Parts: sequence; structure tokens; C-alpha cells
Amino acid sequence: MVDSALIPEKSQVRAAFNRSARNYDGVAVLQREVGDRLLERLDLIRLQPKTILDIGSGTGYISDALTRRYRKAQVISLDLADNMLRLARKRQGWFSRQRFVCGDAESLPLADGSVDMIVSNLTLQWCHDLDAVFAEFRRVLAPEGVVLFATLGPDTLKELRRAWQAVDGLSHVNAFIEMHDVGDAMLRARLADPVMDVEHLTMTYGSVLAIMRDLKTLGAHNVTQGRARGLTGKNHLAQMIKHYEQFRRDGVLPVTYEVVYGNAWRAQLSEGTNNAGPKRVAFQPLAKP
Ligand SMILES: C[S@@+](CC[C@H](N)C(=O)[O-])C[C@H]1O[C@@H](n2cnc3c(N)ncnc32)[C@H](O)[C@@H]1O
Repeated sequence: MVDSALIPEKSQVRAAFNRSARNYDGVAVLQREVGDRLLERLDLIRLQPKTILDIGSGTGYISDALTRRYRKAQVISLDLADNMLRLARKRQGWFSRQRFVCGDAESLPLADGSVDMIVSNLTLQWCHDLDAVFAEFRRVLAPEGVVLFATLGPDTLKELRRAWQAVDGLSHVNAFIEMHDVGDAMLRARLADPVMDVEHLTMTYGSVLAIMRDLKTLGAHNVTQGRARGLTGKNHLAQMIKHYEQFRRDGVLPVTYEVVYGNAWRAQLSEGTNNAGPKRVAFQPLAKP
């Protein structure tokens, strides 16, 4: 399990993504690559969803692909960061079939059993409480609905983590949850037939500063509660860069991403319904600017 001091603070996550929204698309290369790989998995799923929920939709890469793929479905793009949603909506225009909802994966502002498919690309690693997330997925999924996601595992940014640890032993990098712990959380939420797999992807960069710049633009720089408060000294930064340089091969610096893919189903109602509780509001559309 993950040390709670290394779990992202939600207000910081929202603020970081709100700040980075405008420049996000320019650097989200890994996110689009993983998103495409996640979308390919839909070929194996025989379901014609009427309502699809894209959780942590960002600027809308996955939502747009889902809207094109399932022409009769309504896609709900949900994100914690309203700036991300505003950009996504601007791209789609006011007459889009998509809905834009500002909300939290851990407490979805959606009615029980109201969606047929949940897709989430590289968002769950930002969530504090995976049990709450999967319980919410199960609650909002209709019977026989499906969830597919990609998230990040503990080897992610391992070079940066090791370089910082060699300098001051502090948490400068977010913690990521093991694939097996993600699977266990799905089982605790009584999601059916969970399937998980993992792959390692490596991006390469010319310099450590370029890596840090991209991570910052992605909103992915350190937002853990155990991070060093205040400014990181120039001296510490120089030392960290020196340690990172030890990973240089063939003239480039690697950045490892451990990508964990998962999917599971909402079983038939007879296997235990959660529809008895009070209905929540259907959804709260994003206000006009
Ligand atoms: C790395 S981006 C991925 C965006 C998009 N899925 C893509 O593939 O480009 C992660 C997104 O998750 C959102 N996010 C983080 N925590 C969230 C939460 N608890 N609930 C909903 N969205 C969240 C962020 O605001 C951000 O837009």
C-alpha cells in the first residue's frame, strides 16, 4: 500500500490541472499514446452504450474519440478541473452531444445506474481513495455496464524519484499504487470479472530540465502531502540533475511510465443492487462563462 504522506492533496491536484490546462495538449504525448491503447481495448467489448462517462476527461481527447466511435451515445466528460472542461467544451462547441460536468471521481454527481460505460485515462493515480472511486463506479454503472481505465504504477518516474532520493531522501515524486492493490480495490467494490495488465513505456528527453518542464505542464509535478515545502534550493536541483544524468543512454535520458490497464463489469442486479438509496441529481452542467 502507499504511504499516505505520498498521496496527492485534492485541492493541489485541481489547482495544478487548472493552471496547466492551456498548455496540456502540447505536452500530453504519453497521455494520448496510452489513451489510444486504452481505446483499442474497446474492440473486445461487445456493448452499444447509450451513456458513457469519461472520468478525468481533461481537454477531451478520450471523450472526442468515444463520441466518434459511439455515434448514438451521449458522452459525459467529467473532470475536477473546470479549466480543462472549458477547453474541451470550446473545442466541441455549444451544440455538441457531449455533456461537461465538473466533479470528483470519488463522489460522482450522477444518478445510480445511469451510465453504461466508464472510461478513464490516466486519472485514477490522482485519486486519494480508490475504494471510494470503485464504489462510485459500481453505483453509477447500469447492470452489465463496463469500466475501462489506465492508471500509473509504482515504477512511474522511477529515475526522477531515485535521483531525488540520492540528494535529500525527500518525497519529490507522487506515489503510485501497485496493480494488485488496484485489483483488490475493484474486488472490494464488487466489480465483476476484473482483468488487469501492465506495460512499461519509456519517453526520452535531452535534459532533466526539459523533463521537469513537461511534468509541470502536465500538472504532474509533485503534489504529495509529504513534498518538501518551499522552494527547492538551486544546489539541491543541481545535485539531482547530476544523479539523473547517470541514467543517460545513447545520448538521451529515459522517463519510465508503468501503465496499469484494468477493466471490470457491473454484475446483474440480482447479484446485489445499490439502487435502493436516494437518487442523486442527474448532473450539474458546467455554467456558461
Ligand atoms: C493526466 S490528465 C488526463 C486527461 C485525459 N484523460 C487525457 O487522456 O488526456 C488527468 C485529469 O484528471 C483530472 N482529475 C484528477 N483528479 C480527479 C478526480 N478526483 N476526479 C475527476 N478528475 C480528476 C485532472 O484534472 C486532469 O484533467
